[in-house]
Amino acid sequence: METVHVSLGERSYDVRIGPGLLAEAGQHIAPLLNRPRVAIVTEARVAGLHLAALQEALTADGIESEALVLPPGEATKSWAHLTETVEWLLDQKVERKDVVVAFGGGVIGDLAGFAASVLRRGVRFVQIPTSLLAQVDSSVGGKTGINSPHGKNLVGAFHQPSLVLADIDVLGTLAPRDFLAGYGEVVKYGGLGSLAFFEWLEANGPDLAAGDVEKRTEAVRRSVQMKADIVARDETEQGDRALLNLGHTFGHALEAATGYSDRLLHGEGVAIGCALAFETSARMGLMSQEAPSRFREHLAAMGMKRDLSDIPGELPDADGLMELMKQDKKVEAGKLRFILARGIGEAFVTEDVDPGLIRGLLEEALAAR
Ligand code: GLY
Repeated sequence: METVHVSLGERSYDVRIGPGLLAEAGQHIAPLLNRPRVAIVTEARVAGLHLAALQEALTADGIESEALVLPPGEATKSWAHLTETVEWLLDQKVERKDVVVAFGGGVIGDLAGFAASVLRRGVRFVQIPTSLLAQVDSSVGGKTGINSPHGKNLVGAFHQPSLVLADIDVLGTLAPRDFLAGYGEVVKYGGLGSLAFFEWLEANGPDLAAGDVEKRTEAVRRSVQMKADIVARDETEQGDRALLNLGHTFGHALEAATGYSDRLLHGEGVAIGCALAFETSARMGLMSQEAPSRFREHLAAMGMKRDLSDIPGELPDADGLMELMKQDKKVEAGKLRFILARGIGEAFVTEDVDPGLIRGLLEEALAAR
């Protein structure tokens, strides 16, 4: 087992990463408990595959548990399911010193974490992320929340978990496309902060996609370490934390343009968005022309989408995509902030981007479809 510590003073916690952690969950969670009882929030797909194993592991350490099983999918991150979750936790008589367990992918982690943040003005929660995306990104760093009809993640709170258990074996039950979408966030870390990690991924990505548990553990550990370092410097995204959004301004616009449907999964949008951010950087003379191609070649080697031409169906024109980009949360005083890079692994935040250059790049990418 590998451990990454997230250093945030009294809100510090461990992210434990490795195979077989679900079976040991009781041992890891017991030290946090005021009484031997937890409330689990999960969703139907994960429950069908893994809930019995989690509850057995808790029982083995004398911990009672009840589970709320919600529908799978992004639509669950809603006011209605937040209400359902909070009322269920109150029905279960979850006390101020109890612990809620978020057991699922990003949707469940965000929703259950937010419910824990408002329940009795804040109870502790443990993240047991079951998707690659949740293990390397959403379960770490304390962003919780739901979607509003106005947009994704517009209602929420910073509420750090007390522990994250990332069981690498659980990734074995993911559909290959979901695994690779999560890999979009892994490769983002190389892109934003470490050429050495990107090179490691170039060499080892195919093995870890094929199921190599040691390499999966290493990829999650390195991703989480990079996120932990950034979150420790900037918990509430006043500065550096925005680096974690490399590829997200383009990616979110593409997700919105495809109706948040399975035409484009979030991590796929992020990977294409990273390639577009690198292309922007190269056109601005910030990085070599070869770097965006190298990044795209790695996505191609992984069998991932890498360009607008890989997205099925209609897309809006360049102006339409630019309008969608302006809905991004990183807009400040009406100005779009971009994450660009001076090379693979050298990202920085800037407002200084000519909209004409972005429009030109999108027009070309759309024309190539
Ligand atoms: N997923 C971006 C962040 O946690 O800041």
